[in-house]
Amino acid sequence: MMHTLFDLTEKIALITGSSQGIGFAIARGLGQMGATVVLNGRDVERLNRAVSTLSSEGLKVFGYPFDISDSSQIDQKISAIEREVGSIDILVNNAAIQRRGALESFEESVWQELIQTNLTSIFLMSKRVAKGMINRKSGKIINLCSLMSEISRPSISPYTASKGGVKMLTKAMAVEWAKYNIQVNGIGPGFIVTEMNKVLLEDQKFDAMVKARTPAGRWGLPSDLAGAAIFLASRASDYVTGHILYVEGGLLSAL
Ligand SMILES: NC(=O)c1ccc[n+]([C@@H]2O[C@H](COP(=O)([O-])OP(=O)(O)OC[C@H]3O[C@@H](n4cnc5c(N)ncnc54)[C@H](O)[C@@H]3O)[C@@H](O)[C@H]2O)c1
Repeated sequence: MMHTLFDLTEKIALITGSSQGIGFAIARGLGQMGATVVLNGRDVERLNRAVSTLSSEGLKVFGYPFDISDSSQIDQKISAIEREVGSIDILVNNAAIQRRGALESFEESVWQELIQTNLTSIFLMSKRVAKGMINRKSGKIINLCSLMSEISRPSISPYTASKGGVKMLTKAMAVEWAKYNIQVNGIGPGFIVTEMNKVLLEDQKFDAMVKARTPAGRWGLPSDLAGAAIFLASRASDYVTGHILYVEGGLLSAL
């Protein structure tokens, strides 16, 4: 029997960048708790495959391809989802990109692309989706943070700056919208086996570092993030807001 505290039946969840990786695993987790899930991505074929996979598992799923970094598309696409699927109760701002390189030679245009995708799009998407949540006085927003919301390492300074920004934007949104009964929280994954980390997974030294540095002794899997997302999307977290839940095998607690 489903525990009612975590039951998401009747809820509609939009998860950005969810045709693979962490977003896909979160969508599957929310769907398994009864939510109707709306997947998003830019690659239509990959999105369609993800929709087919989840619907073959018996989940209620829709796919809406659009680029969350293109502010001119957001209003139209969210309006279409609201009209065709229903009011969005849960927004998971998951889509992000990584661009590696030495800070001293990092191109300004790439910096702008990364900040637009990882940080500005969360402001734009949340602002638009929150309209309905504010009217209904109810909503859950979950922003994907990172270990890099707290610490950094060479070659990923722009990403670190964006994820530090996402952490503080999460707190700011939580403070502004608590009066509308909207809870805004973050999930901070540790090192997770996804496409984004392909080069790191192939680097034996890096792989050994992750296993040695993480108290749990392993990389995380996308499915490791589902429980945190279900908690933050459900009634179980109605008095939790502005919190960043790190799902990192204990890494941030260890020297
Ligand atoms: N993998 C990790 O170790 C890790 C660690 C910490 C945080 N995160 C965060 O978790 C989230 C998911 O990461 P992942 O590892 O699953 O990455 P991923 O690259 O596998 O998936 C990200 C998805 O977002 C999509 N996307 C990117 N830009 C988009 C745009 N403009 N519009 C629509 N979709 C877009 C990509 O196409 C991709 O499908 C990201 O916010 C990432 O920063 C990941």
